[in-house]
Amino acid sequence: MATSINLNVNGRTTSVSVDDMDMPLLYALRNDLGLHGPRFGCGLGQCGACTVHINGEAVRSCITPISAVGSGRIVTLEGLGTPEKPHPVQQAFIDEQAVQCGYCINGMIMQSAAFLAKSSKPSDDEITQELANNLCRCGTHVRILRAVKRAAGTI
Ligand code: FES
Ligand code: FES
Repeated sequence: MATSINLNVNGRTTSVSVDDMDMPLLYALRNDLGLHGPRFGCGLGQCGACTVHINGEAVRSCITPISAVGSGRIVTLEGLGTPEKPHPVQQAFIDEQAVQCGYCINGMIMQSAAFLAKSSKPSDDEITQELANNLCRCGTHVRILRAVKRAAGTI
């Protein structure tokens, strides 16, 4: 039987109808709420494409059961900034033209934004380490690292 649960997403409380409380949060975000910033990549917690923030932490939504979210504040790429006022990390990715196909970029931005909120002056090695588990099949790592470094000075 479907259960209605409330999620706090991008500053709003919204209700979704859930048949299976083990359903990944990613499915509710994409399929029920139409938030397509978080991507389905591996579905196994291995690539980072599905990353969102919950209470400021970068979380892989493909392996986060919806039952585990509770009243956690979820922020997706759509809630990080707006087209008029992008988040500094979003702006830096634009400035550095860090995107190729773009599939990994949600994860790269969300992981970086959570990281820079806590570490405003990271070294190159620390940035590389932080993004080591976010996979990019296009190989735009150099531009991505440049973008994160550019954003680091502005947060
Ligand atoms: S889709 Fe979630 S980590 Fe790959
Ligand atoms: S830009 Fe294509 S996977 Fe990273």
